[in-house]
Amino acid sequence: MVDPKAQLCPNIVYRPIMPSDLEVLEQIHADLFPIRYESEFFLNVVNGYDIVSWGAVDRNRPGCQSDELIGFVTTRTIPAKESEIADMLRCDSSRTDQTLVYILTLGVVESYRSLGIATSLIREVIKYASNIPTCRAVYLHVIAYNDPAIRFYQKMMFKCIQRLSNFYYIKGQHYDSYLFLYYINGGRSPCSPLELVTALATYVRSLFKSLTAKIWKKEEKKVPRWFKCKDTSCLLVTQNKRIITTDSTGFQCV
Ligand SMILES: CC(C)(COP(=O)(O)OP(=O)(O)OC[C@H]1O[C@@H](n2cnc3c(N)ncnc32)[C@H](O)[C@@H]1OP(=O)(O)O)[C@@H](O)C(=O)NCCC(=O)NCCS
Repeated sequence: MVDPKAQLCPNIVYRPIMPSDLEVLEQIHADLFPIRYESEFFLNVVNGYDIVSWGAVDRNRPGCQSDELIGFVTTRTIPAKESEIADMLRCDSSRTDQTLVYILTLGVVESYRSLGIATSLIREVIKYASNIPTCRAVYLHVIAYNDPAIRFYQKMMFKCIQRLSNFYYIKGQHYDSYLFLYYINGGRSPCSPLELVTALATYVRSLFKSLTAKIWKKEEKKVPRWFKCKDTSCLLVTQNKRIITTDSTGFQCV
């Protein structure tokens, strides 16, 4: 279908996927993925029914090939509450309008790999999702043995947040998958162990501060009335001095 070696200097352009891409899109999916997708899926992609997608073409290919897909990404926007990762997001529970962008498929034909095409496609997705004010994350599943894709998403700063046992069932065999997620628009995980430790440390520090303040108040009551300054800021200074030089006799009150 594509003879990329013939392309000395590809000129990669990104564009929406259109009905005229149907045949090539189906072919590339069949070539790249172990799963067979139904025709309805492809029709939805090319017609933009409920699916938003981007394609990559090489304008330097000869003739009508210059508009033939050599890469693609397909996505669907879903309500966060209906997704399997709803409790992995720190969502405002009172808001029901929060959404997620799910990556359905991503692929680049073999001869055009390692040129940064998938990187550009995923950047398009992140840009698109970031412009949806209600969207909190972009996420996807990768079959556990797909090392190139796993490395790719790691490089793109997606977080691998879960391994799902037997997620895929392909040709009579079960396979695990990894769930990768990229937070946007203030979306974030509910509470990481580090956040818990930080919160605890902050609490202990504030507790210590308030205890110290109480002790000082008691000490202050013990000080003879005539030592007190009318100005509270002045009192504070003299108290500090007392701490620094314990044998100081100089409560310099006015
Ligand atoms: C995964 C895939 C989309 C990557 O496409 P690509 O256009 O070659 O990716 P990029 O050129 O943008 O690669 C960006 C980074 O991803 C990582 N990466 C991509 N392919 C890799 C590979 N085969 N091995 C290791 N790392 C890889 C590298 O870190 C790379 O950066 P580098 O080139 O600076 O080293 C492509 O290999 C593919 O279509 N695979 C088959 C379909 C598939 O598995 N899709 C994903 C299903 S979720």
